[in-house]
Amino acid sequence: MGLGAVATIIALSVVYAQEKNKGVSDVGTSTNTTARPGTSTTARPGTNTTTPAPNNPWNQWRLPATLKPEFYEVSLQPFLKPDANNMYIFKGNSSVVFTCEKATDLILIHSKKLNYTMQGSFHATLRAEGGGNAPAISRTWLETPTEYLVVQLGAPLQQGQRYRLSSSFTGELADDLAGFYRSEYTDEAGNKQVVATTQMQAADARKAFPCFDEPAMKANFTVTLIHPSGYGAISNMPAKSEEQVIDGAIWNVTEFDTTPRMSTYLLAFIVSQFTSVGRISNNTLIRIWGRPKAIKEGQGDYALNVTGRILNFFEKHYNTSYPLPKSDQVGLPDFNAGAMENWGLVTYRENSLLFDAVYSSIGNKERVVTVIAHELAHQWFGNLVTLRWWNDLWLNEGFASYVEYLGADSAEPSWNIKDLMVLNELHAVMATDALANSHPLSFREEEINTPAQISEVFDSISYSKGASVLRMLSSFLSENVFKEGLQSYLHTFSYSNTIYTDLWVHLQEAVKNNHVQLPDTISNIMDRWTLQMGFPVVTVDTQRGTVRQTHFLLDPTSSVDRPSVFNYTWIIPITWMTDSGPGNGIYWLTKVTDTTTSFRVTSPNWLLLNLNVTGYFRVNYNQENWDQLLKQLDANHMVIPVINRAQIIDDAFNLARAKYVNVTLALNTTRFLSQETEYMPWQAALNSLQYFQQMFDRSEVFGAMSKYMHKQVTPLFNHYKNITNNWKDIPSGLMAQYNEVNAISTACSYGVTDCQNLAASYLQQWKKGPTNPVPPNLRSAIYCSMVATGGEDAWDFLWEKFKNASVVSEADKLRTALSCSPHPWILNRYLQYALDPTKIRKQDATSTINSIASNVVGQSLAWDFIRGNWRTLFTQYGGGSFSFSRLILSVTQRFSSEFELQQLEQFKKDNQDIGFGSGTRALEQALERTRANIIWVKENQATVLEWFENEIKSR
Ligand SMILES: *[C@@H]1O[C@H](CO)[C@@H](O)[C@H](O)[C@H]1NC(C)=O
Ligand SMILES: *[C@@H]1O[C@H](CO)[C@@H](O)[C@H](O)[C@H]1NC(C)=O
Ligand SMILES: *[C@@H]1O[C@H](CO)[C@@H](O)[C@H](O)[C@H]1NC(C)=O
Ligand SMILES: *[C@@H]1O[C@H](CO)[C@@H](O)[C@H](O)[C@H]1NC(C)=O
Repeated sequence: MGLGAVATIIALSVVYAQEKNKGVSDVGTSTNTTARPGTSTTARPGTNTTTPAPNNPWNQWRLPATLKPEFYEVSLQPFLKPDANNMYIFKGNSSVVFTCEKATDLILIHSKKLNYTMQGSFHATLRAEGGGNAPAISRTWLETPTEYLVVQLGAPLQQGQRYRLSSSFTGELADDLAGFYRSEYTDEAGNKQVVATTQMQAADARKAFPCFDEPAMKANFTVTLIHPSGYGAISNMPAKSEEQVIDGAIWNVTEFDTTPRMSTYLLAFIVSQFTSVGRISNNTLIRIWGRPKAIKEGQGDYALNVTGRILNFFEKHYNTSYPLPKSDQVGLPDFNAGAMENWGLVTYRENSLLFDAVYSSIGNKERVVTVIAHELAHQWFGNLVTLRWWNDLWLNEGFASYVEYLGADSAEPSWNIKDLMVLNELHAVMATDALANSHPLSFREEEINTPAQISEVFDSISYSKGASVLRMLSSFLSENVFKEGLQSYLHTFSYSNTIYTDLWVHLQEAVKNNHVQLPDTISNIMDRWTLQMGFPVVTVDTQRGTVRQTHFLLDPTSSVDRPSVFNYTWIIPITWMTDSGPGNGIYWLTKVTDTTTSFRVTSPNWLLLNLNVTGYFRVNYNQENWDQLLKQLDANHMVIPVINRAQIIDDAFNLARAKYVNVTLALNTTRFLSQETEYMPWQAALNSLQYFQQMFDRSEVFGAMSKYMHKQVTPLFNHYKNITNNWKDIPSGLMAQYNEVNAISTACSYGVTDCQNLAASYLQQWKKGPTNPVPPNLRSAIYCSMVATGGEDAWDFLWEKFKNASVVSEADKLRTALSCSPHPWILNRYLQYALDPTKIRKQDATSTINSIASNVVGQSLAWDFIRGNWRTLFTQYGGGSFSFSRLILSVTQRFSSEFELQQLEQFKKDNQDIGFGSGTRALEQALERTRANIIWVKENQATVLEWFENEIKSR
């Protein structure tokens, strides 16, 4: 599954999170970043958690190793109009042919929420394939808690014999975003249109038809869709035939070619009135599908342009042709994750596939190209070769999250997009992985059983830490050696399943062939990074040349309950440079402490470790070396590579949070920003300073902090004003365009008059003319300033624009900007709107409340609103897309006083009877965070105030 809100990109202003777009979409499961599946007590409804389940095979979550599916024939008929009970349903027939691997008198096959047409007294029929008799069925039943159809036989199946199990059933085509479900949109004529579509991952293929629903149970599938004429049907494979039949009414029957052997979770089928744009590239038919209006407006064109290039790139990277005859990609109005890599039929949220040249920003474009690259990377790694079980999900998702940057780079080579991994994945996930309750990348197979446990594995550790650790591996092996091992792995295991160590074996082979020198085997090196949680901080004393590693914990007083056989030590590949240039090769730290002459330098020389942050660790130095690095940044920051300028800031702020260094040292790393124009260091600083803003924006510190920010950002604002010819031209390159947005959003929110005037004049122009004068890239930032300074008129004007916006990304920008108002009554009204589905779509309610809460004025209003409406929120929005955990975490993010802690505790007490549902863990985290904030503010407030005051004096 692709890229939900794996990392919430943190930024100073509410608009930026939106501009960087990863914060926009919302995957319910990925909010649970610190969950530990192995220790979860989550159970499916109906299970009895207080006593061990009886030992029957049908009470076990995993299928017994007795039967192996060979192929399925599945025919499904979705009804796109409600039935007499006002329910949307689908009918289905399916049969599966399987081989008996071990004699058994029991057939267990997954089935969820399906109603069967009884065949005599049984749910299904059984035949032997190729003549012979099948044993008689003695009893069948649905084992609802573990999601099985159970078929008990009078005599055992014979080992080596093939059988066919057939059934007919009905299911609901619900709007629950899982299994075979329905999505709705309004067409150009204003009519409601229904789409029947699928989301099988992780364990919902069983909701569409009975199947052996585990990734290792690969089989061939022949799918047939029966649908009303006037609708098209697409699936993983090309359509074989299309004919009309009469069945009371006229139906179309679309039969698809048989798939190669594949896992159930990668199946997909869609019945809709969508249209497409397409072309043939390298003998592969590529099509981009969406609502007819969006396709007509050219919103699929960008995806079409980049898909061919990305497929080409991966064919070369994997040295394997694209495994299927065609590649379809579809943008859906309702979709739970960011995207899903179904083999040959990838599904997306609209904002992750469709791009509007007039309305969309460069951030929207980056989102599209990276998500496409992520999903296409899976077409080989994940789909052609599949991990055996969900405990190894980190390798599947971590790998795709790493190579998506390589694939996107092949499509947009001028963007330097690979550099962004450090901010978007590595820095983002280190924040989570530095907690005492983080978890290792790798789980044991027995730890992951229930569907709830499986969905908890889809967290930022799997995606972003997985990506960061694989990038480190590829970088110490070199990309070519890594590719050689990868290709041999894919060739060996095509159409079958693996465990993660299979990849290590093939990489080790490539290491041998290429005579790469390593301190240990790949497996031994990587175990340290995958089997234990967290990461090290490497501390160097440049005067002595000593180097030491320690487990980095954001809260050094927290206790780590989880034991590690490696005692939280790592085998660390260290690259370095000094003021006279890069160091030679890799220094491997294999012990807790060591000494090396390479790291001995004396001032005024300096040492810098972890070039381009290819290693997954933080770095701390002796004070002298920090001083020299800071001097270098002030004198000529360009000597230090741009990624490392971001690293110095991010490391220093995190080291300060963990009390390795003083908070003033961290603040000192932001001084050179007045001369910095590059995006990465600025973004690292804005991310780090966001915490200061949240802690202090209601205290006297904020006055001084604002003046400092004003001072630092003014040169950047003027720089962009100059190079863009007064905001008329677009800067060249992705990073420059991103930093232009930083310049405007930071300048406008810290009161740079020139910036606020710019926004005001755009607003005047827009009110006069029919066209929107604001360049798409700048819209999030400018809209926010319009609302912040423009009063009621501006709010109402943008609200009208929001109601009439037909492009999703434009509506999202407006919706977020509307929360920038400084007027309590306007924000309160907007909070009311958020719970009115005729004004704000249900799926957007949480994120709207969240943006209101991130406004300093809105935060207390949102808190009162949530306290006052908890019962309503909880009962009306209890299920589905409403994320209580994000809600609780965002309204409490500023909490840092005893009084707020009391309020939060009271809230917990008052609502004990209603409960907190999916927000239960978040509430505990909010309490813990508030306590930590109280201490931090107490310890640092005076020092921070003094620092900011000194900085503005020295102006
Ligand atoms: C769980 O099982 C035990 C023992 O069979 C039984 O006493 C108890 O009532 C069950 N609890 C529930 C919630 O079904
Ligand atoms: C399946 O059966 C249950 C129980 O009779 C019923 O409530 C439900 O609506 C049925 N679902 C479908 C899709 O027919
Ligand atoms: C099943 O898939 C394999 C590839 O894994 C393919 O070789 C075979 O032809 C397929 N079977 C059928 C009946 O299409
Ligand atoms: C988060 O994880 C906890 C503990 O594993 C679980 O109880 C809770 O239901 C999860 N919340 C969500 C939103 O998945």
